[in-house]
Amino acid sequence: MLKTLDDLPYRNQRVLVRVDFNVPLRDGDVTDDTRIQKALPTLRELAAGGATLILVSHLGRPKGTADPQLSLAPVAKRLSELLNKPVRFEGTPGPASAAQEAFVAAAEPGSLTLVENTRFDARETKNDPELAKVLAGYADVYVNDAFGAAHRAHASTEGVAHLLPSAAGRLMQRELEVLSQLTHAPEKPFNVIIGGAKVSDKIGVIENLLDQVDALFIGGAMAYTFVRARGGDVADSLVEEDRVEMAGDLMQRAEAKGIALHLPEDSVCAREIAPGADTAVHPSGQIPAGMKGLDAGPAALAAWTEQLSTAKTVFWNGPLGVFEVPPFDAGTRTIARAVAGLNGFTVVGGGDSVAAVNAAGLSDRIGHVSTGGGASLEFLEGATLPGVAVLEKA
Ligand code: 3PG
Repeated sequence: MLKTLDDLPYRNQRVLVRVDFNVPLRDGDVTDDTRIQKALPTLRELAAGGATLILVSHLGRPKGTADPQLSLAPVAKRLSELLNKPVRFEGTPGPASAAQEAFVAAAEPGSLTLVENTRFDARETKNDPELAKVLAGYADVYVNDAFGAAHRAHASTEGVAHLLPSAAGRLMQRELEVLSQLTHAPEKPFNVIIGGAKVSDKIGVIENLLDQVDALFIGGAMAYTFVRARGGDVADSLVEEDRVEMAGDLMQRAEAKGIALHLPEDSVCAREIAPGADTAVHPSGQIPAGMKGLDAGPAALAAWTEQLSTAKTVFWNGPLGVFEVPPFDAGTRTIARAVAGLNGFTVVGGGDSVAAVNAAGLSDRIGHVSTGGGASLEFLEGATLPGVAVLEKA
């Protein structure tokens, strides 16, 4: 059982909160604050209990040295705007530098301090006990609300939890509740849409969900490995040759279990991946020589939208086409709208599918938008997340 805020004596204490504020930045501004917004309920709940908040997060992959481009300063600014209260922040060489320690020590009761990027310290990703000790010294209790980083056994996500009374924050709790429901008891029919470039990235999730799922929709470039396994001609489309057999085997197992496995019947094809390239629609198994499939075609999208409409639970991860290069973004956008329009419980996870939902302003119409990319995939593969395991009750 996961320890939550209900189990933690945090009232009027100094609370170290690990958040995942690894957000996209451009020209010193946060361009998507979803992860910050999603942490607010935990921060508000702790603050309402009189806690003094010391927040820690990573940003990017600075490899153990201070990189001004990856300072959390823009995040501190955005967080302050969202909470409408001051956020103490001092850019320092690292989260455990003498200057940072002094700055944290000077935090007034009830204040909120954001510590500089944990990955400015090389000891963070090594889960070094000495760094964990410094971070533990910042507070009386520890809350981990960084679901997006829960698959990392780092000093601020795992090591420190051994040193202080610890619990999951509300975001972490909700992510685990929703994703566990998908793996254990989804309301049926349960439909899963998986996209993305590579079969190898998603096979673990597909395998682990096979016992629950009623219909599986496979899109994105990975679909062409499956189309090839069915004997289709995919011309120059991306195919993982060493996964064709695995794809064939998976289709056989799905069939034996009575799972409807859908591949896009048609594809938007072009000779090259370029903005505004000349396109033509072809059956996905009859792509002409010199062309490649780069997005799900209109017949596939219409059929999938119709087939999804009766689902009671839907999980979607991964783009259906080359989402970052229009016009090959149309399939992903169409599925984002289709999923948002469903009556069943919908869950979207993973960078591009979440970006598509956000870009279309549809996130409010999704049951749960996961803040975890790698973390949600590892969880759905059935892996134990180190940042979660350490928060389990004995
Ligand atoms: C993410 O963006 O998926 C998390 O913040 C984890 O980041 P990482 O892959 O750099 O550990």
